[in-house]
Amino acid sequence: MSVVDAGATDDFVDGEARQVRLGTRTLVIVRLGQDFYVLDDRCSHEDFSLAAGEVDAKNATIECARHGAIFDLVDGTPQSFPATRPVARYDVVVHEGRVEVTVP
Ligand code: FES
Repeated sequence: MSVVDAGATDDFVDGEARQVRLGTRTLVIVRLGQDFYVLDDRCSHEDFSLAAGEVDAKNATIECARHGAIFDLVDGTPQSFPATRPVARYDVVVHEGRVEVTVP
């Protein structure tokens, strides 16, 4: 496990998804207020970027822009078809204004 700096909190717009590359991983980071959520930036239905999808701040979900599967930002589980498998999620903390992601 290692903790990786994903950028300053101010780099992330509230309610929006942003793709971030950390080493060999491509992640999607979503900011909702002061909370941050990190998932693999790859829909589990087909190989498509979730960062292109729409964030639902009220329900803390993101909708894949390709076929509309909805994923829980907290744990990556699918909330609707056509996706049936979760996407990986990562622990994230804010430390001194930086977004720090724990990666295996
Ligand atoms: S690629 Fe995401 S729902 Fe199909």
